[in-house]
Amino acid sequence: MASTLTIDSALSKAEKYTTILPQMASLIQGEPNAVANMANFSAVIKEVWGHHWVGFYTVEDDQLVLGPFQGPIACTRLFKGKGVCAAAWESEETVVVEDVDAFPGHVACSSLSRSEIVIPVKNANNEVVAVLDIDSDQLAAFDQEDKAGLEALVELLKPCM
Ligand code: SME
Repeated sequence: MASTLTIDSALSKAEKYTTILPQMASLIQGEPNAVANMANFSAVIKEVWGHHWVGFYTVEDDQLVLGPFQGPIACTRLFKGKGVCAAAWESEETVVVEDVDAFPGHVACSSLSRSEIVIPVKNANNEVVAVLDIDSDQLAAFDQEDKAGLEALVELLKPCM
């Protein structure tokens, strides 16, 4: 298991994702506990990118329940049909929101959040069992490079979920 991250802040966004991928793999692979892995996963993303909020919501029946995260306190439960996390859960697709105020039904856990990306997390049976939610205090902080990079990182969680 890696104990420290090695990342050059001068790297481009795509290069950062490429550099982080094997380090995240080394951190997660071999640890079967999902909570432990989601906790370290959140810490890595927060340390490398410094986003406002990084964390997981796990699927429990017909709700999403707050899981391991880094950042300010957040809503503990989210509901089907409302918000960005629920949209990613229900569509089973990554949702990128450039301006949260323009997303109908956005759940504002923090008034500082301006843009957001939510990636579904699947288990080995390809069922969505959680979502990774990343919020920025900047407008349009996330793009297709983030989508590709984060989806590759989230794939590493599949065996433990
Ligand atoms: N903004 C999310 C809710 C979760 S918090 O931002 C941590 C949403 O609309 O689903």
